[in-house]
Amino acid sequence: MAVSVQELKDKFKELFGGDGEIHAYFAPGRVNLIGEHTDYNGGHVFPCALTIGTYGVIRPRTDRKLRFYSINFSSLGIIETSLDDLVPDEAADWTNYPKGVMWTFEKRGYHLPAGADILIYGDIPAGSGLSSSASLEVLTGLMLRDTFGFDISMVDLALIGQYSENNFNGMNCGIMDQFASAMGKKDCAIFLDTSTLEYEYAPIKLPDAKIVITNSKVKHSLVSSAYNDRRRECETALEDLQKVVDIKTLGDLTEEQFEQYKDAIQDPVCRKRAKHAVYENQRTIRAVQALKANDIETFGKLMNETHVSLRDDFEVSCAETDLLAELAWKVPGVLGSRITGGGFGGCTVSIVKNESVDLFIRSLDKPYKEKTGHKAEFYVVDVGDGAHALD
Ligand code: GLA
Repeated sequence: MAVSVQELKDKFKELFGGDGEIHAYFAPGRVNLIGEHTDYNGGHVFPCALTIGTYGVIRPRTDRKLRFYSINFSSLGIIETSLDDLVPDEAADWTNYPKGVMWTFEKRGYHLPAGADILIYGDIPAGSGLSSSASLEVLTGLMLRDTFGFDISMVDLALIGQYSENNFNGMNCGIMDQFASAMGKKDCAIFLDTSTLEYEYAPIKLPDAKIVITNSKVKHSLVSSAYNDRRRECETALEDLQKVVDIKTLGDLTEEQFEQYKDAIQDPVCRKRAKHAVYENQRTIRAVQALKANDIETFGKLMNETHVSLRDDFEVSCAETDLLAELAWKVPGVLGSRITGGGFGGCTVSIVKNESVDLFIRSLDKPYKEKTGHKAEFYVVDVGDGAHALD
């Protein structure tokens, strides 16, 4: 964290004045180890919460005004609106995320009795695909819940965040990011069945290896429309399959069943998308079994298969993340490496033997810079807790 809770509170008082009780909160970003683009297909995911994320300081008001300030977007100054104006608005910029959460609270019958002053600071690298928006949504939900005394579970806060992202901000994401931010647990990944929201924590503190995130520093445009296209293609494939087999989601199929019924999917592109969703779900189940049996080699190989499937069948990788994965695969001591998150840029996640971390960084850094012109960033991951109050 680049700033302390005290500094955040001081900044809050400087901006909004010093009277009244203020409280500070944190919601983490996430990295997904395996199970990509399965969460809107009724499949399994295996993310973990990071120790980087979004911080917030809040104080309720006596009127219906909302005043927002982000240290990351200080040039925008204080953005002022009201509880009577919870509509998406491009000019409202980043505040569309907290506003979306407030709108969802109202829709679900959690009526906000008053407005609030809110200060935000995030230390997730911009555009990295490590879920800065989901963390802001979960953070907002938690701050509202505690400030106004609503009885809402952390899982429901995740669902509220997802609903607001889908219906207020137009990104039809699944539940993974918000769930990881709300429900994360130190040194554990979350094995989540997105069709039932049943979950299990799996210890991920590896004795001989580290989880390393590599930020490609590229974010291709139109990410949310390309993401929504993928989701639609999966839905079309599901509708075709449902004509020949009784399933609720693509996650209901084994690989063998998919091979048996796949010709029912008319469009070859939709067929490829569905293939990824089915195989990736089964890979995720196998990967978690392997991890539980301390077979980290198999876990890593399955991660590599995920990359190939995301590159060739789901087509959400890009030249830069392909290069990072290919360079990683050649480094001795790298057990697995793949693009992580929604795709179209962002980060790769790799499992690297402790003694090979320096070699890994050296082997990717220079060739990546030479071939793409971008300077990759490397973060050795600490797995942290889900969203919580800081005071
Ligand atoms: C984004 C979405 C998630 C999930 C991933 C892909 O991060 O927000 O819901 O679909 O992409 O696994």
